[in-house]
Amino acid sequence: MRCLSAGESHGKGLTCIIEGFPSNVEINLDEINGELARRQKGYGRGKRMIIETDAVEVFSGMRFGKTMGSPIALFIKNKDWENWKISMSCCNIFHDPDVAITAPRPGHADLPGAIKYNQDDVRNILERASARETATRTVVGALSKQFLKYFNIEVHHRVVSIGGIEDMSVIEKGEHYWDRIRASEVSMYDGDIENKVKQLIDKTKLDGDTLGGVVEVMIYNVPVGLGSYVHYDRKLSARLAMEIMSIQAVKGFELGAGFKTSQISGSKVHDEIFYQDGYHHKTNNAGGIEGGMSNGETIQFRAAVKPIPTLMKALKTVDIGTKEVVDACKERSDICAVPAAGVVMENVAAWVIAQEMVNKFGGDSIEEIMANYNHYMTYVQER
Ligand SMILES: Cc1cc2nc3c(=O)[nH]c(=O)nc-3n(C[C@H](O)[C@H](O)[C@H](O)COP(=O)(O)O)c2cc1C
Repeated sequence: MRCLSAGESHGKGLTCIIEGFPSNVEINLDEINGELARRQKGYGRGKRMIIETDAVEVFSGMRFGKTMGSPIALFIKNKDWENWKISMSCCNIFHDPDVAITAPRPGHADLPGAIKYNQDDVRNILERASARETATRTVVGALSKQFLKYFNIEVHHRVVSIGGIEDMSVIEKGEHYWDRIRASEVSMYDGDIENKVKQLIDKTKLDGDTLGGVVEVMIYNVPVGLGSYVHYDRKLSARLAMEIMSIQAVKGFELGAGFKTSQISGSKVHDEIFYQDGYHHKTNNAGGIEGGMSNGETIQFRAAVKPIPTLMKALKTVDIGTKEVVDACKERSDICAVPAAGVVMENVAAWVIAQEMVNKFGGDSIEEIMANYNHYMTYVQER
C-alpha cells in the first residue's frame, strides 16, 4: 500500500491517493470525519481550528460504503478558500510584491526551504511545510483504523507531559482509560494535572510563547511477526520511527523503555519469555518490538513534540531581502498542539501497521487477508 498527498495550508484543499488498499473493507465516513475533528481539538489551538471544521470527500475507490481495490482519492476542502483565492491563486494574476513574507521563523522550514527552492516569498515554503498536511495523514490513518478493526487491532494515544508537567498515571488496556483520555482537552488521564497544564497554557499565551510535550501511543492486538530483521528498511521499529519523526515538530522517538534502557543493566531491561497458551512476556520494556518485528505484546512508543515555532512575542531573524535584523513573521498559530499531534501519531501508526498487515498477509480483498491471517494465527497458537 502506498500513499501520496498534495495541498497547501491555504490552498483549495488537501488531496491524497491511497493505492493498494484492499477491497471490500467497510468504510464509515463519519468515523473519518470524527478523527479529523479530534485532530482539530485540544486546549491551546489557534483560531484556524474554528474555521476549518474539516470533512473528507471521496472522489474514487469506494462504492456503497466499501472499498473496491482501486485507488482511493480523497479531498479535504479548505473552508476558508474564499478569503485566500487571490493571495493563493495558481494563475499569473497581478499581485502586490509587498505582501511577500521575508522574515523566516526560527524553528520552521522557512529559511532552508527558501534557499533550497530559490524563493523570495517565504509563503511558498510555509504553505506546504505547515502541519495542515497532517489532516491528510489523519484521513489515511482513519481509513487504516477501519481496516485494522477486522483484526481487533486498536491504536490509542495519551499525552504524557506538556511544558514539563507530567501525568504519571499508569495506563492499562481498557476502554475506561481511553474514554477518559479522549474526553480530556489535553488528552491526559489525571484531571488535576490537566488543570495545571491548562493554567500553564493560558500563562504561556499571555507571554506570547508556546509549549511542547510528550505523547505515548499504544497499539493493541498486533500479531507476532510484523516487520522483519532480514533487511534494515523492513524493521517495524524503523518504519514507525521514520513515519512518526516525519510529523511536523516531532523531535524524538522512544520505543518501550527507550532511553532509560541505556542506564540500567540487561537483567532489568530484557523481558523474560514465558509460555502459557502461547508465548508471552510479563514486562514490556521492548515496547512490543524485538529485532524489528512485533513480538505479540502491545506496541508502545513515545514521541517528543517541540514547542510551536510561530511566537506572538516574535524571535529575531534576518530579512531575506534586506539582510536586516527583524522580528520573525507571525502566522495565525497554535500555542500548544501536543494533543493534536497525538491524534496524528495515532493515525500515522495505524497506517504503518495496516501497511505491514497487508505486507504480511497479502491478498487483494479483506476476505483473502483475513483467511491468511486466521491460518497464521492458528499456526502461532500451535507453536
Ligand atoms: C498538529 C500540529 C499543529 C501545528 N501547528 C503549528 C502552528 O500553528 N504554528 C506553527 O508555527 N507550527 C505548528 N506546528 C509545527 C510546525 O508545523 C513545524 O514545527 C514546522 O513545520 C517545522 O518542522 P519541524 O519542527 O519538524 O522541523 C504544528 C505541528 C503539529 C503536529
